[in-house]
Amino acid sequence: MQKDFLGLRDTSYELISEILNRAKSMKQSLLCGEKLNNLAGKSIVTLFYENSTRTRLSFELAAKQLSATTSSIAAQSSSVQKGETLLDTGKTLSAMRTDMIVMRTSLSGAPHLLSRHVPASVINGGDGTNEHPTQALLDMFTMVEKKGDLRGLNVTIAGDVLHSRVAKSNIFGLIKMGANVVLLSPGSLLPPGLECMGVTIEYNKKKAFQNADVIMGLRIQLERQRGGLFPSVSEYNALYGLTEDMFDYVKPDVLILHPGPMNRGVEIDSAVADSTNSAIEEQVTNGVAVRMALLSLLSEGLS
Ligand code: CP
Repeated sequence: MQKDFLGLRDTSYELISEILNRAKSMKQSLLCGEKLNNLAGKSIVTLFYENSTRTRLSFELAAKQLSATTSSIAAQSSSVQKGETLLDTGKTLSAMRTDMIVMRTSLSGAPHLLSRHVPASVINGGDGTNEHPTQALLDMFTMVEKKGDLRGLNVTIAGDVLHSRVAKSNIFGLIKMGANVVLLSPGSLLPPGLECMGVTIEYNKKKAFQNADVIMGLRIQLERQRGGLFPSVSEYNALYGLTEDMFDYVKPDVLILHPGPMNRGVEIDSAVADSTNSAIEEQVTNGVAVRMALLSLLSEGLS
């Protein structure tokens, strides 16, 4: 039995498929406004040490939709400010009989540490530059909805791969599910060793985009950079951004995704983000459905 959900690196093809399948029925219930009882009597805490709009709210909505009680802790207003350690916070939440903790942090690996010290299920809501597994699940769910199958799908991920936990989780998940992953990024924003994971690196935007079924823009993560990794925002936008001129050479039905929050005019232009090819708002809806699926499966004991 699996207690926690910490990343897609170690998640099997079978489990990813099960979560994506369960998300279909969860989305149906969500759209019909049907409340479910899967988590009745369970207590879920969102422990967010970093800012979030989508992930925190969608976990809270998903938990409520499944009849759990939810509470949230933000670092700015918690006893972390008084020097409490993560493990002491974990002990406090355990003493309050918390069943699941969704954690976001700037520290890669912190959810893994917490998971070893609490009886509650720990879910990674994004840890540093490591992984953001539920974002990748909702991205893959959106791709399946729009394109039918991940196997053989050509997915280009463009932008700041080095600092992106979304990119890492998508790479682990998509490769496992049989997609072809191309990365477009300046060399200074690519971690070493990616080719060994089965992805293709491309430095030319037209080559990276023209055969893609899906193009995913990544947020440029200025808060995780020391600066100097690319010459200018306008050059970055022209060479690695999702710009309007790409519609001259991409497939007409290319699916545009972005995890949000977007830096319009930097990694994605409004003409692309708001185009009919874009499913960026549907990604947000799908985030609730996918998190409902994950929470319900976790409560049953993931295998
Ligand atoms: N995609 C994502 O993680 O968004 P938030 O930072 O708003 O949660």
